[in-house]
Amino acid sequence: TVPAQVQVLGKSYPKDATTNISSSIIDKLERRLHLQPSHPLGILRSLIESHWPAFTHLSDFSPVVTPARNFDDLSFPADHPGRSLTDSYYINKDYMLRTHTSAHEVETFAKGERKWLLTADVYRRDEIDSSHYPVFHQMEGASIFPANANGVHELQEDNARLSEYLRKSNIVIEDIPHITPTNPLQAGHDPSQAELVAQNLKLSLNSLMLTLFGGSNRGEPLRVRWIEAYFPFTSPSYEVEVFFNGKWLEILGCGVVLQSTLERAKIPGSIGWAFGLGLERIAMILYSIPDIRLFWSQDPRFLTQFQPGKISTFEPYSKYPPCHKDVSFWLPGAATLHENDLCDAVRDAAGDVVEDVKLIDSFTHPKTNRSSQCYRINYRSMDRSLSNDEANAINDKVIARLQESFGVEIR
Ligand code: PHE
Repeated sequence: TVPAQVQVLGKSYPKDATTNISSSIIDKLERRLHLQPSHPLGILRSLIESHWPAFTHLSDFSPVVTPARNFDDLSFPADHPGRSLTDSYYINKDYMLRTHTSAHEVETFAKGERKWLLTADVYRRDEIDSSHYPVFHQMEGASIFPANANGVHELQEDNARLSEYLRKSNIVIEDIPHITPTNPLQAGHDPSQAELVAQNLKLSLNSLMLTLFGGSNRGEPLRVRWIEAYFPFTSPSYEVEVFFNGKWLEILGCGVVLQSTLERAKIPGSIGWAFGLGLERIAMILYSIPDIRLFWSQDPRFLTQFQPGKISTFEPYSKYPPCHKDVSFWLPGAATLHENDLCDAVRDAAGDVVEDVKLIDSFTHPKTNRSSQCYRINYRSMDRSLSNDEANAINDKVIARLQESFGVEIR
């Protein structure tokens, strides 16, 4: 017998036991919001690209990758949770949707690109709320130098230029040491050059933060802080936070690229840094966009508010009333159900009118061992008012879907 097929971006793939990609996700693959010049994500991409005019700007990579590209190339351990079916979308055991733009580091370095930015849609299975959506957009940036005296010279010059620029700017930076025992130098790196690379990374990203957030701070200095982090593919690693509207916000992850990544790309004799940032996160802050679903809106009242090259404040065209429904069920036998699996089924059955989903109760019957869960699903359209009848009809579809996919018994 011929296995069932799934169509993704015009190609047909055989389904297998790992296939967990849903049709609402497949529909998103062609949208490419980051390439629309008047979409807030496209505007933000261009803004960051113009901050680094000399870098190569890439934005045309297919979201379908092998797990080797997404994980192994980047030295993810075999048991990393990101690989699991509850966290990532698999087309089948050989192909998946990239979970981050780092999936393209090795192939981009291998092409000979040394300074580049890469923008793309990325896919992760997650909970549903106003800041999580299974599709979002990231931008990866990297800069590589020769691991020799020429590279040291290039770094020293660039660091001097950037330090001078930051010294004259209205920014307050809470820094941490570049390299420490818990955030270590890589074996094989020259310690003084690794210091210069880490410094170049910090100076470069501090100036990006000024470009993005410096203008909207009403004359107050921009506050940026550096935090020690961990990624399987960088060392040392950091996170950057920016103080905005009274809160510290996590903006990006970055670090000194692991030498094994560069060796896989067949560019030994190099040393450099990489970062990855989430565009929705930053766009929601800069434009005051209150809900991540709005980026997918086709409503002209959303789309006509933005112009290329400009960061403006989004004017909500009105907030329609929410309508919540509680769904309680028994799972079959001794089955368990992961929240990400439930959320995916809900999103697939109901679409973007789901605003958030919360587990409000769960227990296991001591005698029968059966589990019961209750979720509160909040329905709200971005574009119009939902009647209670409409919400009920959508909720009925969700219930039918849960019965069909998980064999649940509604209580
Ligand atoms: N890929 C990481 C993420 O998605 C971010 C990152 C990129 C970190 C490059 C370090 C270097 O969280």
